[in-house]
Amino acid sequence: MAVYEVVKNGDPVLREKAKQVPKITPNVKKLLDNMRETMYINKGVGLAAPQVGVSKRIIVVDVGEGLFEVINPEIVESQGVETDMEGCLSIPGAVGDVPRAASVVVKGLNRDGQEVSINARGFLARAFQHEIDHLDGVLFIDKAENVRKEG
Ligand code: NI
Repeated sequence: MAVYEVVKNGDPVLREKAKQVPKITPNVKKLLDNMRETMYINKGVGLAAPQVGVSKRIIVVDVGEGLFEVINPEIVESQGVETDMEGCLSIPGAVGDVPRAASVVVKGLNRDGQEVSINARGFLARAFQHEIDHLDGVLFIDKAENVRKEG
């Protein structure tokens, strides 16, 4: 396994619309492993493939409720609105208050190519929305009401 360097704001890959993954190859699984390692070592709660320079629709999320690895994730339902603080490994030192849906249903594929449907609320729902935004070239600072220095 390897830890990647996290791409920082200003790199054009963060603004691209990431491509669907047509087939889950061994390379996709290796990418998932390395994204997970990269997320944990940086103490992140989520990571999207564009953040390691790979413009593909792949995310990993772990807010303390277990690891989720989702390929071609989609939000198929969302309810409510909540505003809370977010940061991003690609924008170190910055936080902001971002309105997000309070709960979402995320569909996609797991690493074995099986369809998964995840009901997420609160911080987990927020993390999924943040990571899926990365796949569309959207950063939290685009939506935040009050971007400021952390701490
Ligand atoms: Ni982020």
